[in-house]
Amino acid sequence: MHGRVRAPGDKSVSHRALMFGALALGETNVSGLLEGEDVLATAAALRALGAVVEHVGPGLWRIRGFGVGGGREPTDVLDLGNSGTSARLLSGILASHPFTSFMTGDASLRSRPMQRVIEPLSRMGARFQGREGGRMPLAVIGTDEMVPIEYRLPVASAQVKSAILLAGLNTAGETTVIEPEATRDHTERMLRHFGAEVRVSVAEGGGKRITVVGWPELKARDIVVPGDPSSAAFAVVAAAIRPGSDVTVENVGVNPLRAGLYQTLREMGADIAFENPREVGGEPVADLRIKGGELKGIEVPADRAPTMIDEYPILAVAAACAAGTTRMLGLAELRAKESDRLASVAAGLAANGVRHEMGADTLAVHGTGAAPDGGGLVKTHLDHRIAMSFLVLGLAAREPVAVDDGSPIDTSFPGFAALMNGLGAKIEPA
Ligand code: S3P
Repeated sequence: MHGRVRAPGDKSVSHRALMFGALALGETNVSGLLEGEDVLATAAALRALGAVVEHVGPGLWRIRGFGVGGGREPTDVLDLGNSGTSARLLSGILASHPFTSFMTGDASLRSRPMQRVIEPLSRMGARFQGREGGRMPLAVIGTDEMVPIEYRLPVASAQVKSAILLAGLNTAGETTVIEPEATRDHTERMLRHFGAEVRVSVAEGGGKRITVVGWPELKARDIVVPGDPSSAAFAVVAAAIRPGSDVTVENVGVNPLRAGLYQTLREMGADIAFENPREVGGEPVADLRIKGGELKGIEVPADRAPTMIDEYPILAVAAACAAGTTRMLGLAELRAKESDRLASVAAGLAANGVRHEMGADTLAVHGTGAAPDGGGLVKTHLDHRIAMSFLVLGLAAREPVAVDDGSPIDTSFPGFAALMNGLGAKIEPA
């Protein structure tokens, strides 16, 4: 693998850029927006709420917002496709509007837990009607008379944190989220960028206490979206597992709350340099230069999980190519992603002759340091990261690896195959 590529826009930041643009008054211009299906689902939902969201050029979007609490009742069901971030974050916006709205999604999204947002938003005064376990389709019966809460997150989830903070915007007084383990802080950064008052302090008993002051006047601001470390990960690992490779991925967000994979790969012996560190749109960014070589197995501690929660599938691929065992701990949340990612990864490893053991919230991958067998057909289960990860495994395996459905890749990384092929991969329709 050789060459220079640019990481696609960050998915988490792109969703938030559109949502904050919609909640602000005036015109917000966004550059570097990820034009993946998930983010387009957010754009469509915000249009249904009354925002003007225009595509003005590649990665360039203009939003004319409706202001905090100024959305109008959508005339149809909001279809959020595969996107958990759209569903969870929008639920906070919808819950704090005085109308009823309806959300649904694809088979994957309809199976994912929404109770985690229903619970705190109900405490604030909204009501919900969903399927068993709060699953979608979901009716959100909102109110503009929300009461502020102080809520301790039972799971480490930036989506749940963000849903509550977004609801807190249209709530009188101060809404507080306490997170025992720090998760990605793009919402907090963007709240400040748009002029809201956010206070962050150390919580009693540990963790972070995040307070947003309600009813701010959010003012339109321009946003530059950095590249996505979760997408860059595929090119980085592809280079790291192919000795002799030399790849640079430009413009990668390296927010410490997102960069756990890079620390882990370095501990495994990967040669990764953060070149040209700088700030883009209030987020730390660098160009990552990776040289391929030998990797060794390590233990990845549970407390690192929130900083690399989306990167375990591709880490498992790196581990399959490393010498020795890589033990990953604290993976319970992987079971609630686009698929049961722990099970999907284990099945993909099994299909390709990689020895491993899966526990309730752990995965041990036994690499031999030699090329994995490969030759398997991996079930994607509507999960983009499973598809991309196992295609990367194919680059290092003795036999080609196939995935049963490449279409979910477009949710987060349109142009994935072309970008990887430009670096020397051979990813093609089977
Ligand atoms: C995200 C948070 C994470 C992550 C998801 C994006 C976000 O989900 O897995 O891809 O943008 O806030 P959880 O909040 O469920 O951990």
